[in-house]
Amino acid sequence: MIELEVPLGDRSYPVVVGAGARHRLLEVLPVGVRRAAVVTQASIPVEVDPGVEHQVFTMPDGEEGKDLGTVEDLCRDWAQWGLTRGDVVVAVGGGVVTDTAGFAAAVYHRGVAVVHVATTLLGQIDAAIGGKTGVNLPEGKNLVGSFWQPAAVLCDTETLGTLPPREYRNGLGEMAKYAFLGVDDLADLPLDEAVAACVACKADVVGSDEREAGRRAILNYGHTLGHAIERRERYRWRHGAAVSVGLVFAAELGRLAGRLDDATADRHRAILASIGLPTTYDPDALGQLMEGMQTDKKNRHGMLRFVVLDGLAKPGRLEGPDPSLLAAAYSAVAREQPSSGNAILL
Ligand code: GLY
Repeated sequence: MIELEVPLGDRSYPVVVGAGARHRLLEVLPVGVRRAAVVTQASIPVEVDPGVEHQVFTMPDGEEGKDLGTVEDLCRDWAQWGLTRGDVVVAVGGGVVTDTAGFAAAVYHRGVAVVHVATTLLGQIDAAIGGKTGVNLPEGKNLVGSFWQPAAVLCDTETLGTLPPREYRNGLGEMAKYAFLGVDDLADLPLDEAVAACVACKADVVGSDEREAGRRAILNYGHTLGHAIERRERYRWRHGAAVSVGLVFAAELGRLAGRLDDATADRHRAILASIGLPTTYDPDALGQLMEGMQTDKKNRHGMLRFVVLDGLAKPGRLEGPDPSLLAAAYSAVAREQPSSGNAILL
């Protein structure tokens, strides 16, 4: 088992990575907790035993369930059960569950402790770590939320064996992001170590900039266009697939802005394609995607902000790029999609 820490002073917390990590739940519950509200989805084949009195609360499957309606339902169910601020929420699932249950925990009784048991690759290397919680609005992804750090995160790599291939690939899109940000040798590491290497990178970034005043924005590499694609596709595309196109687009932006060398830009496309992730998107979509990107939380005063690379492992910022630069970068990812092309993504 690999144990890491997200270093946040007196709110520092452990992240345990390895096969069977979910069985460490009782050990990581906050001291004095008497009851646990376990939040999960019907489709998640993972059971946990918090070792204290508990009840399971099931939220809807899919990204559609990540909304304010679900937050209200959870809070009302917890209130009827009698959950108090001295108890704990245990979120068992992928990013949809940890984001939604984490946000409900942040606002219920003005804040109740939460422990994440991340069951997907994406959840383990990104969503469950770092305290970003939130839900979607029809206007955009993750537009309502809060920073609410968990008391602990358990990344049970045994649960990854049950993931459908498309869900696993989804996580590989985020893992590729870490490779471009400078986490070495990910493709050659055993799975536990690869997950831990990504967690260590994220823990270091979050420890230095918890509330995204600056450095933490690098974790959004590829996400500006990626989120706009997810929204345009009404979340039928998996997050990692949309981010994959977003990463290639961001690499092209970097290349065209004269900041990223050709070889590194080309590597983006090659690595993502080799994983089986998409690297192209609808040629007619730029107008809609531009509208979608306007709602991105990184923007300031109506100016689009992108993370680009100044070389492998050298993330930087590109503010207010000229529309002609955006159009040129987009034309490098714009390809007619085969009619069955999305099948692997759904
Ligand atoms: N997923 C990006 C972040 O946690 O900052």
